[in-house]
Amino acid sequence: MSEQMSFVHVFEPGGAPGGPTLLLLHGTGGNEHDLLVLGRALGPSAGLLAPRGKVLENGAARFFRRVAEGVFDLEDLAVRTDELANFVHAAAFEYRFDPRRVVAVGYSNGANIAGSMLFRRPGTLAGAILFRPMVPFEPATAVDLRRIGVFISSGRLDPIVPPEHPERLRQLLSNAGAEVTLHWHPGGHQLADEDLVAASEWFERTSLLPPPGEKFRRAGL
Ligand code: MLT
Repeated sequence: MSEQMSFVHVFEPGGAPGGPTLLLLHGTGGNEHDLLVLGRALGPSAGLLAPRGKVLENGAARFFRRVAEGVFDLEDLAVRTDELANFVHAAAFEYRFDPRRVVAVGYSNGANIAGSMLFRRPGTLAGAILFRPMVPFEPATAVDLRRIGVFISSGRLDPIVPPEHPERLRQLLSNAGAEVTLHWHPGGHQLADEDLVAASEWFERTSLLPPPGEKFRRAGL
């Protein structure tokens, strides 16, 4: 396997060739298995690609370094974002999925590197579902995110994400041309069933999933 495939990861092929692949990005202290059930619920016939973050913070896996809670090491974030984007491209070649149909599904730290990927490597993702994201950084140059759909789910009582971040992230993504839905969950930082319901409804409304007829045909139903 190539150097670019050096992330520990799980890949589950999709049931519909040419269908979307969900890039599942766990939160701090998680691993490549954390979001598999969620991903399967969001996209029953989607491919699933779940890497484990390579940075260790007191033994907890993350996708990039931070200086303190909510204070990111931006140099490391840039390098790790490129590394992850290159991994996605290499994995598309290795596993023969369509690199133009990759949708990130990230929680917390995973949502933050997905947001970074949208701004720094905009060609990598066709869409993103971001649970409890922050603004990873303010892009210095214009980014073109037209035709990209982004769903953000933020907690009204989240003690980790400063309250102004979700709205600012929505604004930055919209300014770049993305179609953004900001959903407010009544709870805190933890993921809840309500997040999944709202994200699924959004995902079914987008053109990122294959039409149901195709899905059922491919599944042999
Ligand atoms: C981060 O470091 O990405 C955020 O503080 C969220 C977290 O992982 O706790």
